[in-house]
Amino acid sequence: MKMLAPSLLSADFGNLQKEIALINQSDADWLHIDVMDGVFVPNISFGFPVLEYIKRLSTKPLDVHLMIVEPQKFINECKQIGAMMMNVHYEACIHLHRTISAIRQAGMKAGVTLNPHTPVELLQDIIQDVDLVLLMSVNPGFGGQKFIENTYEKIARLRELILKKNARTLIEVDGGVTLENAPKLYTAGADVLVAGNAVFKSDDIINTIKQLKK
Ligand code: DX5
Ligand code: ZN
Repeated sequence: MKMLAPSLLSADFGNLQKEIALINQSDADWLHIDVMDGVFVPNISFGFPVLEYIKRLSTKPLDVHLMIVEPQKFINECKQIGAMMMNVHYEACIHLHRTISAIRQAGMKAGVTLNPHTPVELLQDIIQDVDLVLLMSVNPGFGGQKFIENTYEKIARLRELILKKNARTLIEVDGGVTLENAPKLYTAGADVLVAGNAVFKSDDIINTIKQLKK
């Protein structure tokens, strides 16, 4: 099944309740939540007090993307806000295996995120323990950036690795997804697409989500 996760980062934060209600009514599968610390990425978004509020409003499963250093310190917080998926960056985890195990033990699904320059082959010894790999198709930190074309090749190589290792890992792509490249990304092997600007800056959020999933 092809899935879509709108990224709340591009929403109108002055009307958060209204924006989340629209997502609830839509065909979106998950709600993608971008947490940034100003250290791992050159931007700060929002933290757990805001997530506490989002959790109460959203009926969609929360796909939490932590762009922070030492994400293993926040496993309990993610569990508290009811995260379905906790995505940690490969580049931010020294003991990735330990972190992935702790996330799963806490009852969440474990996702590993790769920056555009990080090869998928680095996951060959952990892929079987990972529920999802989130491929960054822009440099993390901001919405509305241009899609990096090398991502198509990365999806193909990741699919190969998943098949070779007999893993059940999902492939998610994040950054610069549009109505134009979404069909090509699904065909290339992406299971889940994240879309920020394409959804929230469109005139008809519900219809755009429908179009993106087609
Ligand atoms: C970027 C975030 C993305 C971002 C996507 O650091 O991880 O989730 O919000 O936004 P668009 O779709 O506008 O590139
Ligand atoms: Zn993201």
